Formats: sequence, structure tokens, C-alpha cells
Amino acid sequence: MTFEYAERIKRLPPYLFAELEKLMREKRCCGVDLISLSIGDPDLPPPDFVVEALKEEAANLKNHNYSFSQGEPDFRTAVSEWCKKRFGVDLAHEQVVALLGSKEGIANVARAFINPGDRVLVPDPAYPVYANGSTLLCDGIPVLMPLLEENDFRPDFDKIEPHDAKMMFLNYPNNPTAATVDRAFLKEAVDFAKDNKLILCYDNAYSEITYDGYVAPSILEVDGAMDVAIEFHSLSKTFNMTGDRIGFAVGNKELVAGLTQVKTQIDSGPPVYTQKAAITALQSYKSSEPPEFLRQNNQILQQRRDLLVDTLCKYGYEVEKSKATFYVWVNCKCDSMVFAKKLLDAGVAVTPGLGFGRFGEGYARMTFTQPQERIAEACDRIARAFK
Ligand SMILES: Cc1ncc(COP(=O)(O)O)c(C=O)c1O
Repeated sequence: MTFEYAERIKRLPPYLFAELEKLMREKRCCGVDLISLSIGDPDLPPPDFVVEALKEEAANLKNHNYSFSQGEPDFRTAVSEWCKKRFGVDLAHEQVVALLGSKEGIANVARAFINPGDRVLVPDPAYPVYANGSTLLCDGIPVLMPLLEENDFRPDFDKIEPHDAKMMFLNYPNNPTAATVDRAFLKEAVDFAKDNKLILCYDNAYSEITYDGYVAPSILEVDGAMDVAIEFHSLSKTFNMTGDRIGFAVGNKELVAGLTQVKTQIDSGPPVYTQKAAITALQSYKSSEPPEFLRQNNQILQQRRDLLVDTLCKYGYEVEKSKATFYVWVNCKCDSMVFAKKLLDAGVAVTPGLGFGRFGEGYARMTFTQPQERIAEACDRIARAFK
């Protein structure tokens, strides 16, 4: 018996990395000690106080029942308090929904608002979920907004044709380019969304992974944003909790309600004990300043970033020191697959920019989610490959 995939699955783009992954497997099978600078998953552990909270909350048998689909009331209170402390943004309870990681919310928000054939503005290069998991899997049509180096990897709103689009995704601090923005850009984005009647989905998953004094804003800080925007946050990167699947969306009441309505039909919210541990994590913020754990975490990441960027610059690549995220976006001055294969031969795995969209071609993404000594070894290998 054969089973035919739905048209929406057939519309998903081909998996570009199959060949590269095959090569990686072959190398590993031959005993090559590959260093992966291709994974956006922190190697550093969650803070002890969060692990302890997880253990304690999991041991409480009351925490094994279904959660409310919108999230536990005390979790939503902790989120509101965090948003107030961190961004100065006031949120009512109904403006917060708990997520099984921000990816789930990003994918499900389109289910609430996108009809077949609706257009969705998505950045390119980008985290692939906006175009695929969200738009294509809701039978929508992605309309690409190129993120070009000459525009600091921001969409040029003067040049974007909205084509009656219904929704727009933006993500800063950005994966994969590591670009950051200020409130002036966010104001432009909100005005553009309002002028064109767009739902603005703002992915702020990396708001806390910042360096050199940069503080990432929330779109909800901008005047008028609450009329059009929903913002996605995650504990994955902030507290090194990618596998715990906990995040949240905040913002416009109707947008949060729509997303919640979808979730009531699909999942019943993250596990209660995870939400309770997330409360402990969020409450480690005593003010707008990052807690001690995060300061140390970001200091470690910053040292790795410096090592990687300094090495690349030494070999003639013009690479900016990322002010946020754990990515370095390298203009590889050649076909991104060729660049990735060359580094693979040297024992270092990186992600070709093409994997993030056609405007990512000519670039490669490197992550610094490996211990310093592995990054140092990767830098030696990169140096040998470029010599
Ligand atoms: C830009 C961006 N948004 C969202 C996510 C999803 O994170 P999570 O679902 O773990 O919260 C990721 C993960 O890599 C990401 O890079």
C-alpha cells in the first residue's frame, strides 16, 4: 500500500542539506572527529537553580495533570512581570499564552489567521519555520522580503510590495545573520504593518543573548504595536533549555486569543512542572538587568565569538562581531555549498546560507555553541583550510 502526502507537504522545499549530512556521516564513519559549528543548540547547561526547580516540580504529583491550554495562571503572571521588568511593557493575563517552545507558537499562529491562498511576508534568509511550518503548512503563500547586507540585513519597507499580505514575520536579533535592530526600526515595522493591515509576528527568541552592552528591544515597546503585534519568546536560548520546550507569546489580545484557540484543539499547553520551573527562571530577573547566570553565560559566548571572528578576519573574511545570538554570518565570497564542503574536508561543519533561503546564498552560518577549546581547534582547522 502506498500513501500520498497532502499537497501542502509536497509544497515544502526540498531538504538542501541531505548531501552535506551524508558527507558528514561518511566522515564520522571513517573516524574523522568533526567539529560542528552548524547547530543552534547551546552546549552550556541550564542554571542549577532551574534544574533544581525542574526536579522539585516534577516530584510534585499535582504537577502531572493537564495544564490550561493558555498556560498556568502563575506562569502567565510570571511572564507579565518579566515583560514589565525587562521591557517596561504592561500585559493583562489574556495577553499571554504559554508555548511548547516558540517554534510551536510561530507555526500555530498562522493556523488561526491564514486562509488558503493568503500571502505572508517572510524574511529571507530566515529561520525556515516562517515560510514552511507556518505559511506553507497553512496553504498560505510566502512572499519573500530580502535581507541584504547593504540594508544591514533588514527589510527595506520602501521597496516591499505587500501584495495584500495578511501577516508579516520579523526576527531580531536575527537567525541566521545575527543582525540587531533599534526601536526606530521597530517603529517603522509597526507603521508598515498598520498601513498595510498586517498581523506582525515578531520573533524575539534571542532577546537575552546579547554582547557588548547591546540590549534587544521588544516590539511591544513601540507606540501602536499592541494594535498589530504578537511577540514570541523562548526559554530555550536564554536559559539553555532547548529540550524542555517552553516559551510564550505576548501582545495583542485578539492575536493571543486566536493562537490559544488553535492550541486548545492541538495541545493542552506545556507540562505544568516545566511551566513552574520556568517561573523560577523568569523570576531570576530582579530588574531589567540580566541575572548573574546570564551574564556569565553571555561572557563565555562572547569569548568564543571573538576567537571565531578574529580568526575569520585574519584570513580575509569581513565578519562583524555579532552583538547578539550565537551565530556568525560569513560572506564566503563563493558558492555556500562549496565553502561548506571545503570546511567539511578540513573537519568543520558549517551551514551553507542557501539553507536559509535564496538570499542566503554566498554566505555561511557558523555557531559558537561548542566549548572554547573546540572552537579554537575549529579555528586552527579553518586556518589550515584557507592557507
Ligand atoms: C529565530 C528562531 N526563532 C525560534 C526558534 C525556536 O526556538 P524554540 O522553539 O526552542 O523556542 C529558533 C530556534 O532555533 C530560532 O532560531
